[in-house]
Amino acid sequence: MVVLGTGGTIAGTASNPADNIGYTAAQVGVAQLLAAVPALKTVLRDHDLVSEQVAQVDSKDMRFDVWLSLAQRVVHHLAQADVSAVVITHGTDTLEETAYFLHAVLPPALINEKPVVLTCAMRPASAQSPDGPQNLMDAAAVALTPGAHGVVVVCAGTVHSGLDVQKAHTYKIDAFNSGDAGPLAYVEEGQVRIVKNWPLAFMDKGHIAIKDIPDAALWPRVEIVMNYAGCGGEVVDALLYPREGVAPLRGLVVAGTGNGTMHHDLEAALRRAVLAGVTVVRSTRCAQGRVLATTQSEFPHAQGLSPVKARVALLLSLLSA
Ligand code: SIN
Repeated sequence: MVVLGTGGTIAGTASNPADNIGYTAAQVGVAQLLAAVPALKTVLRDHDLVSEQVAQVDSKDMRFDVWLSLAQRVVHHLAQADVSAVVITHGTDTLEETAYFLHAVLPPALINEKPVVLTCAMRPASAQSPDGPQNLMDAAAVALTPGAHGVVVVCAGTVHSGLDVQKAHTYKIDAFNSGDAGPLAYVEEGQVRIVKNWPLAFMDKGHIAIKDIPDAALWPRVEIVMNYAGCGGEVVDALLYPREGVAPLRGLVVAGTGNGTMHHDLEAALRRAVLAGVTVVRSTRCAQGRVLATTQSEFPHAQGLSPVKARVALLLSLLSA
């Protein structure tokens, strides 16, 4: 099993062990994190453990170049016959975006056979009672479960599909949920209790091969705007305004109200954006449910994706267009 480190709170430290929030993320190397969990050996049994530091970032600062190297390193390791799974340690803040990105770009033949398990922590490694070690143990148990495959997320004893997972709590250790879809499995004392099928890769629509993804500096600019009471179109107009050194806007995801609805002033500005060549997609600011097509809605909906995931999907579809 290979563990790739990218940073996050799981690798964070605070000067006071009693402080669960005043820490600096991404301080401890992944090899050191693993060494601090000797009980992992019981989960690994006769499997070898190899680790690699791919990045060391607070995931609020996640960058496209990190995503690309992460995807490349996952492919490299998963393609080895003697590697049965890859675990990734990651910050919780943008974990769902990374999970969606990996789901969309990793070769279907690999992830339909082997699992990529993202895990994280809500408390820093230096905490009196950190949650990272148990999450690592649970992630390893999932990674080594016979038949496991696809991009999944393990946090607080719950396994989520990378497609459905979203961070739902700012503080609780059990910070993620899978919305209407519900979790994929639970990990109980090292045993994985599966309640749904493992996720299957996108086969054509939605999948883009890593070799077809250009350098991160060339990715199209896609932003998110939200609808709210008193909303106007000024933000959209400002985004359309050309600025030196800033790539032109290519896509906009609207976190609409309810079923992806929007103030008529915002809607008018979005029409101007479409005329300027921007692709507009409708998502919702509701944490649960999906935007459904209606006869009145002129902008396409986000196929059930949350605004942040819809943004990744739109980015990738603009890249492959
Ligand atoms: C991060 O996302 O890197 C910091 C927050 C966390 O991991 O909980």
